[in-house]
Order: sequence, then structure tokens, then C-alpha cells
Amino acid sequence: MTGTTGTPGTRLTVLGGGGFRVPLVHRALLADANHPDQAGRCTELVLHDTDPERLAAIGAVLAEQSAQHDGPVPEVRTTTDLDEALSGADFVFSAIRVGGLAGRVSDERLPLAEGLLGQETVGAGGVLYGLRTVPVATRIAERVAAVAPHAWVINFTNPAGMVTEAMSRVLGDRVIGICDSPVGLCRRAARAVGADPDRADYDYVGLNHLGWLRRVVVDGTDRLPALLADTGALESFEEGKLFGAAWLRALGALPNEYLHYYYHHREALAAIQEADATRGEFLAQQQDGFYARVSGSASTGAFAAWEATRREREETYMAESRQASGGWERDSCDLDGGGYDRVALALMRAIARNERTRLILNVRNRGAVPGIDGDAVVEIPCVVDAGGARPLATGPVAPDQLGLMLQLKAVERAAIEAASDGSRPAALRALALHPLVDSVHAADRVLRAAGH
Ligand code: G6P
Ligand code: MN
Repeated sequence: MTGTTGTPGTRLTVLGGGGFRVPLVHRALLADANHPDQAGRCTELVLHDTDPERLAAIGAVLAEQSAQHDGPVPEVRTTTDLDEALSGADFVFSAIRVGGLAGRVSDERLPLAEGLLGQETVGAGGVLYGLRTVPVATRIAERVAAVAPHAWVINFTNPAGMVTEAMSRVLGDRVIGICDSPVGLCRRAARAVGADPDRADYDYVGLNHLGWLRRVVVDGTDRLPALLADTGALESFEEGKLFGAAWLRALGALPNEYLHYYYHHREALAAIQEADATRGEFLAQQQDGFYARVSGSASTGAFAAWEATRREREETYMAESRQASGGWERDSCDLDGGGYDRVALALMRAIARNERTRLILNVRNRGAVPGIDGDAVVEIPCVVDAGGARPLATGPVAPDQLGLMLQLKAVERAAIEAASDGSRPAALRALALHPLVDSVHAADRVLRAAGH
């Protein structure tokens, strides 16, 4: 059960290594150990976190997960020293939450007090989160450039589009942002038309948490028009239930689940306001329990405690949105979390083994989406190989979609500007120009309450 040394494996460093979803990444690495090409296999996993207790708890979960695994496992090392964690890394996953879940709760509650959406990545809450996170992410990018200039950085840290763009100003195309929501949508849509999700081609365009699936091509035929015409098939999966067949037909595309906060803004806001706890409050309570239990015990049962907590987390994901759209339960196919780890691993493999793959990723546009400038990070299909991720041309984007993308990009850039030089006017622009913020005065008060 020890890592194999001496093989030309890769070293992966996870920033936010004490994070709750890290065992998913570790599980994906274990599964990959059976791949015939051992060259790109992760043999060393370095977990970095600012909180040693969280590191210890996740370390205990990984130790149990490794012990249950039959086959080679990566060596796991933990550290609270950033430069030590980064030096020698081939890949760096950044999955940090600046301010912790307490910060997430504040991002939710401050806007809600003004009647504005309080959500992790969308609306005023997402902007507050970005203002707090961008300086930290930028500093990480600078340390990577200094001590691991050849590493590829995979950014999970939210708001992922904004954070990836801020990091790209330091690291160029060596930083690639990922999200599980586009791949989840694509796979659910393919299954709904009876196709093998791995054999379909997806035409998806947008920014992170703001995108649209425009075509699902199976054997040369776009199956989306037939899916849109079939109410039963359409409403058999998450996004169909969330948006309803009539709206999807009217739109002619399948939106990312996060567009629920835009298209059903008042219902989503009302459901969040009516809930006993925000998502952040629920998770804070749930995870405090988990970390306390695991770090307080001799830590047998760490994996079981993690697994039970994870299941509950998946089952309650976007519960208010489901409440607002008819109160339905998530299906097994919607519950199939693990999107992150699948995308992250596929990306790592494609780069490390030069295994050419198509993935929907957050990268600098470089001309792929007409109407969006070259340095703007967009979330679109890319071809990935040893040379990194190259965005594929998307063709023209519908005016309503392009309009929203441009507006959100202006918001992200104002937030990056505010985060990098402390500019209050830029912070006000970031908040007040968000399409879900309906008053400059309210934006100003939210900013003030958040200490800006
Ligand atoms: C999805 C999104 C992530 C987001 C997460 C929130 O996976 O793609 O960007 O952070 O949901 O889930 P949570 O369980 O933390 O509410
Ligand atoms: Mn995401």
C-alpha cells in the first residue's frame, strides 16, 4: 500500500488539500492506477492547507480509502507551507475557499438583507466572493510562477471563471479552469436521447456557471431538436425539470443549471429567503460535525463518516432551486457527483500522456468565441494534449447569450481590478453592473457591510 518510487510518475499538489471533496480526486487517482500507460500516473499527492486539522481529517479519509484499494496508490504528504507544496509539482489543483464557509455565509446573508440573491458564485454573493478570493489566487499564481514554473495549474476555486482569468494574467495558458456543471449537463442530455455520453459531441458556449448547450451531435446528427420536442425525455433530467420543457423549447438550447438564478430569478430568490438555512449555513453545520468527529477520534470510520456526509451533500445540492421549480428530488443520474474529479483527471491525463481529448474548460478565448476578446476566460470545448488546452471555435453566439456573457465579463473584470488595486469605484461597478443587482444604492450598502 505504499507509493511506487522510481517510476516516472507525476506529482500532484492540491491547494485546499483539507477540503471536503479531496477524497473524490484521490479516488479518481486510484482508479487511474490501472491505466496501461503508467508514465502519467500520479505517484505523489501533496495536500496543502492553511488549516492543519482539516488536513489531518482528510488525510485520515485518504488513508482508509488507500487501504481499501487493491493496487498501487500515490504517496500522500501534507503540509501547510505553500512554497514547499508547490516546488517540484507537475500539476497544481487549486481548490481553496478563502474565508471558509463562514465567508460563504456572509456572501449569502449580506445581499439577502438587501433583497438580493445570496449565492456562492452568482449575483452579489459571487462578486463578494471574487473580491475576497482574487488577491489570494493571484498570490498563489505568483508563487507557482516562482517555484514551479513548469507546472500546470487546474483551477477549481470559485468563482472559477473570474479566478482563472485573474491567474491567467500571471500564468498565461498554464492555468486551466474546470467545473463539473457543463459535463454533467452534457452527459444527462446525451442519456436523455438514448446516446452513449462518451460518443456524443457537445456544442457548449458560455462563461463559468453561465453557459448553454446548443447541440448534441451523435453520429453526425444533432439530437437536440428531437430532445426539445419530447417533453417526457426533456423533463427526465435535472436541467429539464429545473427550467421546464416550454422554456427550453422557446430558448432552443439547454442552459447550465446556474442560469436558473437568472431565468427564474424571483422564484429562486424567494425560495432562498424562505429556507431555514442558506446553503453555506447548512454545509457549515454539516461539515463542522464531520471534521470534529474525524479529527477527534482515533479516526477509524473516517471514510464512512465522509461518505455519509458526501451523500447528504449531493442530495441537498441546489435544493432551493428544486423547491422553486416544483419540489422534485434528484435522480441517481443527477446525484452522480464526481464531475470535478472526472474532468480534473481527464485533463491531467491528456496533458501528462499526450492523450488528445475534448473537454469543456475555462481558458483564454484566443478568438474562439466571436465578440469576446482574446484574453477573456470563457468556458467552451477545448482540445487538450501535451501542449495544453486549445479552445475550439464556437461560431456565432445568439445575441441574448453574448449579451449576458459580455455583461458578466465586465463584472468579473471590474472585480479583478478592485481586488488587485483596492479600487472602491471598481468594486461598486462589479457589484452594481451585475444583471441580478437592481440598485446601485443597494450595491453600495452591501459593499459597505462587507467591509469595502
Ligand atoms: C457545483 C459547482 C461548483 C460549486 C458546487 C457547490 O459542483 O460546479 O462550482 O462550488 O456545485 O456545491 P455545494 O455542495 O458546495 O453547494
Ligand atoms: Mn462550478
